[in-house]
Amino acid sequence: MLRRISSSTSMLLTFIAVTLVGPPMTHAAMAFRSIDVGSFALDPGTTFSNQAAALQAVEATGAVTVLDANQVLATSGRTGSAGLCHATGLSSSLKPGGFCWDHADDVSNSYTAAGGWTPQGITGSYDAQPNGLWDNVATRHTAYMASWHFDRLDSTGKLIRNEFARVTMVNANNNAISYNHLLLVQPYINGSGAANFRAMPGTHADGMVWYGNTLFVANGRFLQVYSLKHIWKVNSNQEMVGISGSTSSARWSNYALPLIGQYRTTTSDGTACTAAAGRMPCLNSLSLDRTGQDGLVSAEYYGAAGGRVVRWPLDYQSMLPATTNPDAHGAGVTHPTLGYVSPVWHMQGAATNGTHWYLVGDCPSGVGGGSGDSINYSCIHRALPDNSPHVYTTSPVLSQNIGYSPATKRLWGINERINSARGIRVVFSIDG
Ligand SMILES: *[C@@H]1O[C@H](CO)[C@@H](O)[C@H](O)[C@H]1NC(C)=O
Ligand SMILES: *[C@@H]1O[C@H](CO)[C@@H](O)[C@H](O)[C@H]1NC(C)=O
Ligand SMILES: *[C@@H]1O[C@H](CO)[C@@H](O)[C@H](O)[C@H]1NC(C)=O
Repeated sequence: MLRRISSSTSMLLTFIAVTLVGPPMTHAAMAFRSIDVGSFALDPGTTFSNQAAALQAVEATGAVTVLDANQVLATSGRTGSAGLCHATGLSSSLKPGGFCWDHADDVSNSYTAAGGWTPQGITGSYDAQPNGLWDNVATRHTAYMASWHFDRLDSTGKLIRNEFARVTMVNANNNAISYNHLLLVQPYINGSGAANFRAMPGTHADGMVWYGNTLFVANGRFLQVYSLKHIWKVNSNQEMVGISGSTSSARWSNYALPLIGQYRTTTSDGTACTAAAGRMPCLNSLSLDRTGQDGLVSAEYYGAAGGRVVRWPLDYQSMLPATTNPDAHGAGVTHPTLGYVSPVWHMQGAATNGTHWYLVGDCPSGVGGGSGDSINYSCIHRALPDNSPHVYTTSPVLSQNIGYSPATKRLWGINERINSARGIRVVFSIDG
């Protein structure tokens, strides 16, 4: 598993590089292999009814204005740019396209005292509706959503991870990129019965799927569920998160998105998931598969090969994971229908076009140079079930989640790389 040591590199440096990056190999002989996932489950517990009571109580205070996705998409916000503004490594034969964030979101850096936001997940109207557009009576939007986590260094230089999580709603109509950030929050009722909300605790916002009015956000341990019929416009712009008197605030964001429920794959809320082994898979990346019964595809990030890809059936009426035993909100225990174990190292994304699977992660040894960054490009690999993946294309440095648009037969992806000097982030698409 160790690469040959080049004569000019010291043992120490080589050791560090291998430890940080991991052996970047696709084991050509290893297949993207079907596994039995019958013992896996998504369990919402009573979270939907608990959250519904708190959500209604916050809305009843009048401190927030309830908006839907159309209203936020129609509001101008930050301005990005159409097209790929950085080198991507994407094969030109796949007709790369995409868009970029504004400068501040391109260069934001977690490794500072002030902290910064890092992007992870991508979804869009390509997931939300079968025709790939978000419908409104008046307007049909081409829209995207991205997830971000906020980290910062404390006074001792230690990284405080996942202090906040947000999602971004991008209006890409007419090739103009306008977007707003929404802070992810949890409504609650305090010990004296007062309704309030706080930043979603400990959320490494990762994979996302926009499905009708539902937004799924994977967080490693949990599948969080948000409703795009309940977006809260807050009435002040300050650091506070929550309600004080009649003032609401979402830490410099104009909008908050409140949790409506969450599923876990584990036996209890306190149990950790385990990647690459056992019956309690982690939920890192997400994508949607509209082939046959709609399916939510989760994939595990793991420090080597062996991350699992799991397909959970969705119910297009409840817009939640399908269940035979729904509660009043349509939520109940769900079991997956399909699963695979992936030979791709550090898998960051998985999506299917219905026959082929696309897996994002490390490149094989010797592939991915020329990125102009201190880290090589990532690779998107393609595999048929029970066959070995092959490199489909190199892709932006530290590519993360991907999704598949059946309406355009395009893959969409995002990268997270922090390069505070010049920025290196894009949202990209290629032919699938
Ligand atoms: C609940 O919130 C109200 C309103 O902010 C506050 O007056 C009260 O002290 C809080 N109760 C507890 C137990 O935190
Ligand atoms: C998925 O992509 C492959 C490769 O381009 C293609 O052969 C296959 O027909 C596609 N499957 C579907 C269901 O579109
Ligand atoms: C980066 O790419 C170059 C050129 O393909 C290659 O020589 C080098 O081994 C790669 N680095 C890693 C860590 O794979």
